[in-house]
Amino acid sequence: MKKIGASLRLEFPVFAHNVRRCADGVERPLCYLDSAVSTHKPQKVIDKIVEFMSRDYGSVHRGAYQLSVRASDQYEAARARVARFIGSGVRAEQVVFTRGTTESLNLLAHGLTETRLTADKRIVIPAIEHHANFVPWQQAALKADCEIAYIPMCGTSGSDLRLDLNAAAKLITPNTSIVSLAHVGNVLGQINPVQDIAALAKRVGALVILDCAQSMTCFSENPFDWGVDAIAFSGHKLYGPTGIGVLVLRPELLTELPPLLTGGGMISNVTLEESTWTTGTAKLEAGTPPITEAVGLAAALDWLDDVGRSRIHEHASSLASKFAEKLEKIPGIQLFYPGTGNETIVSFRHAALHAHDLATILDGSNVAMRAGHHCAWPLVRQLGVDALVRASFAAYSDEDDIEQAIEAIKEATYLLK
Ligand SMILES: Cc1ncc(COP(=O)(O)O)c(C=O)c1O
Repeated sequence: MKKIGASLRLEFPVFAHNVRRCADGVERPLCYLDSAVSTHKPQKVIDKIVEFMSRDYGSVHRGAYQLSVRASDQYEAARARVARFIGSGVRAEQVVFTRGTTESLNLLAHGLTETRLTADKRIVIPAIEHHANFVPWQQAALKADCEIAYIPMCGTSGSDLRLDLNAAAKLITPNTSIVSLAHVGNVLGQINPVQDIAALAKRVGALVILDCAQSMTCFSENPFDWGVDAIAFSGHKLYGPTGIGVLVLRPELLTELPPLLTGGGMISNVTLEESTWTTGTAKLEAGTPPITEAVGLAAALDWLDDVGRSRIHEHASSLASKFAEKLEKIPGIQLFYPGTGNETIVSFRHAALHAHDLATILDGSNVAMRAGHHCAWPLVRQLGVDALVRASFAAYSDEDDIEQAIEAIKEATYLLK
C-alpha cells in the first residue's frame, strides 16, 4: 500500500520545483493548501499524458487508420474507467465527457429547461452552492419563468454550518422538478445530507443532481445508490488534467437530455433542411472531445484508487482538524468550520487583516491559500463577510504544511500589534 502524506509527496514534481528562498533569507518548501481549487499531478499521470501524446495521439471516432483507432480505444477505455470508479452498476454508456463540472451542470440546466421546466415548477438548491451549481439554475428559472427556492443553513457558525433539513422538507414541494446540490461544500467543507435530501426529492418525483466536484477524491460511495439521477465532477481536482469533466446520467435522463452544443460528432443526419441527433453519449459530445485529457483522467483514477479514497479522506480531514485547532488559538482569527472532524477544508478570516492581504503575505512564506468569495457569493454574504481565506488539504499534504502555514499566519497577524 502506498504511503500517504510526506512520502507520497515525492511523486509530485511540483514540490521539487517550487522550493523558494523567502525575503528573510530562509528557503521554504511549497506549502500548497489550495487543493480544493485544483490538485497537483503525480508523475504517473504526467508520464501517461506524455506517452499518449508521443505515441498514440489521434482524433477519435473519425479515422480508419491505426492512430485514430488506438486513440479511440483509449478514449473509450477512459469512459469505462470512469464508470468503474463511480461504482458497480454504472456503465460506460452513461458517462459523458465534458470540459468540467461547470460545463456538466450547464448542460443539465440547459437541457432540463427544455424538457422539465414550466412556469408552475420549482427548482430547489442550497443557498450556499458554488456558482457553478447556482447560476445555471438561476438562469434556468429565469428562462422557464419558474420558481427557485434555496435551502438555508441552520446558522452561520460552528456546527450550525450545515443544511437545514427541516427547511429542505418544506421547500421540496410537490411541484418541485429539480433538486441540485453539492456533495461536499467548497467553502465550509461540510458534507451535505445527500441521502436525506434525495429521499425528500424522490417523494415528489423530482430529479436529484449531485455536484461531486469536491467529493470524488475522498468518497467512494456510489451516489446512484442514493437515488441521485446525475453527477458532475472535474478531472483537475482529482489529481488529473484540466479541460476534462464528467457528467454521469441515469440512462433515461441521457435519452431525455437535448444537446448543449451541436456540430460534428453528435448528428445522425444533416440535410439542408434539418439535422437530427445521434443517441447515447455522443449526442452530448459535439466537436473534437478532450481526448488526451480523458486518457490523463483515467491514469489519475488509477492512481487515486491505488492510494485509496477513504485513506485520503482520513488523512486530509485529520490534518484539517489539527490545523483548525492551532488556528483558533491565534488572536483575531475567526473560523468558518463546522468541526465535525470530517472536513478537509478550513475557511477563516482575521478581524483586522483583509483575506486578500493575508493570502498575499502568506505567499511571501511560500504558503499558497486561496482568498476571496470562492465562487460562492451568496454563502459569503450569509456569513456576513466579504472574503475568506481557505486552507484545503489533500493526499500530499503533511504536518509540516500545518507548521509552515501557522507560523506564517502568526507572523502576518503579529505585525498588526
Ligand atoms: C463544489 C464545486 N462545484 C463546481 C466547481 C466548478 O468546477 P470547475 O471549475 O472545474 O468546472 C467547483 C470548483 O471549485 C466546486 O468546488
